[in-house]
Amino acid sequence: MVFQATTSAPVNIACIKYWGKRDTTLILPTNSSLSVTLDQDHLRSTTSSRADPSFTSDRLWLNAKEEIIKDGGRMSTCIKEMKRLRKQLVEDTDPNAPKLSTYHVHIASYNNFPTAAGLASSASGFAALVSSLAALYSLPCPPTTLSLIARQGSGSACRSLQGGFVAWEQGSQPTGLDSHAVQIAPESHWPTLHALICVVNDAKKGTSSTSGMQRTVETSPLLQHRIKNVVPQRMVDISKAILDKDFDAFARITMADSNQFHAVALDTTPPIFYMNDVSRAIIAVVEEYNRVWVEKTGKVKAAYTFDAGPNAVIYTEGENVKEIIEIIVRFFPQQETFKDPFGLFANDGGLKEGGK
Ligand code: DP6
Repeated sequence: MVFQATTSAPVNIACIKYWGKRDTTLILPTNSSLSVTLDQDHLRSTTSSRADPSFTSDRLWLNAKEEIIKDGGRMSTCIKEMKRLRKQLVEDTDPNAPKLSTYHVHIASYNNFPTAAGLASSASGFAALVSSLAALYSLPCPPTTLSLIARQGSGSACRSLQGGFVAWEQGSQPTGLDSHAVQIAPESHWPTLHALICVVNDAKKGTSSTSGMQRTVETSPLLQHRIKNVVPQRMVDISKAILDKDFDAFARITMADSNQFHAVALDTTPPIFYMNDVSRAIIAVVEEYNRVWVEKTGKVKAAYTFDAGPNAVIYTEGENVKEIIEIIVRFFPQQETFKDPFGLFANDGGLKEGGK
């Protein structure tokens, strides 16, 4: 018999940023966070895992290159925890179930986007790993339980096991059993919300999230203010904005939180810079776009957010997507072949009259 499963998981983009751990082994955060899981096929990790009695060790291939699974490392913790759940929930309750928890696994994972470029590849990667092992092991677990394990691979991964709008509740137990992801609303709740990914630079980032956030915890006084006085209220306010589909409130909180996260990175010693000049120019363009709309309607129409890298994500509603792409492409002409998903451009690169 062949025991094998393939699943995929998308990237999520945080509106309230996770930045800081109170427990670096269990990956318990210093604040709750909230993200939107992207539902298109462009930014996904797809993972196949196979268990076989002939395998002599657990092995992993990432984008076709074998990676070492370090003993006691995050990958090995996730695999060990999934085997433990298989034994406890399936094999111990059904004497006829194959003893897959005693077999080694081979895992192959593929990202259809640049790895480690601040595009949340560790989030989709560990979420796909955990969901593929959950399928292989036929685990009868809800996503919230699986999120406890994905979290130990990479904190933000716990939010990629569910679609739509997902909060990672920081929890308070030292065991971490209450530090898990919960869905605030499914993606069908707000189908007009779009995320535009602006890839400013797809090179591997200079300071990893893991080391950067630890330096921030150790040195930034602003982080302490953020954790205590800012994030708890923002979690309440953005959840309400999402449930009410109040784009203006959602956007203002998202931009403020991105800016505070980068302020906290700058408040770290030595300071960490994730945004570059192009990132800051994107902020200026979106702020100006919003200023015009606020004058007309009192409401903003777009929200930028940046993770641990220079790439921008712009949230907006469907009716503004075309206009925002036009503006971004005009200010930041594309060097590479532009895919033109909305059919806006003529063959010579100029805008088509009216577009699509
Ligand atoms: C800026 O989840 O990559 O994207 O837990 O150390 O693996 P580790 O960090 P990671 O950090 C993500 C940081 C962020 C904000 C966010 O996604 O909430």
